[in-house]
Amino acid sequence: MREVQPGVYVGVHPLIQTKLTLMRDVRTHHREFRTLAREVATALGWAALYDVRVRERPVQTPLTTTVGYELDEKVGLVPILRAGLGLVDGVLSVVPNASVWPIGIYRDEETLQPVTYYEKLPEQMPVTLCIVLDPMLATGGSAAAAISLVKSRGVERVKYIGLVGAPEGVEFVRTQHPDVEIFLAALDDHLTPPPTRPGDPPKGYIVPGLGDAGDRLFGT
Ligand code: PRP
Ligand code: URA
Repeated sequence: MREVQPGVYVGVHPLIQTKLTLMRDVRTHHREFRTLAREVATALGWAALYDVRVRERPVQTPLTTTVGYELDEKVGLVPILRAGLGLVDGVLSVVPNASVWPIGIYRDEETLQPVTYYEKLPEQMPVTLCIVLDPMLATGGSAAAAISLVKSRGVERVKYIGLVGAPEGVEFVRTQHPDVEIFLAALDDHLTPPPTRPGDPPKGYIVPGLGDAGDRLFGT
């Protein structure tokens, strides 16, 4: 990962980039897209958890006893429905004991404002580190809303994992939440303007991006 600006890390590993290229490719079937999302999420999970707290514990090897480590904090994953679900298994492969609290947020197609339609987070979340998961960081409205919600439930440290971000969204989240580190496979170029002709993409899509992440994950 490369820190491209303070607190914003982008995956420069060649395998992240080849997998992301396949995800961008419009011809990629949703079955493969889903597998690739899981694999890239695993790599981003390793990166995002670089400072997860561990404590020492003795371990008996076949030869001797030595010092080993075990997790010393509880980790929570907060995928934003629905596309965030596509990153859960990949990050869970790194922290299998993490708790998962999905929250439902969609963005209004006209205003691009986030609308929360499902959340059952406990008043006090019993974790010290939460990672919000959503493949697309476009305007950043959905991510910032999810992060605010998680912080309001007493979580000390929050991070964000996504696949592709737009500069506008990254700036918005970092301005709203300067303490939240962002981990992405790619930082893209810009967002689409409002359509002016039939066939234009909807406004607020990431360019070059990978299209509607939810549709591509779920084959809808
Ligand atoms: C997409 C995406 C993010 C959001 C990003 O969700 O998965 O949640 O848009 O946009 P933002 O940064 O401008 O807020 P969408 O509203 O399409 O819902 P879906 O996942 O249910 O399809
Ligand atoms: N949501 C998506 O799924 N894709 C984008 O490019 C922007 C928002």
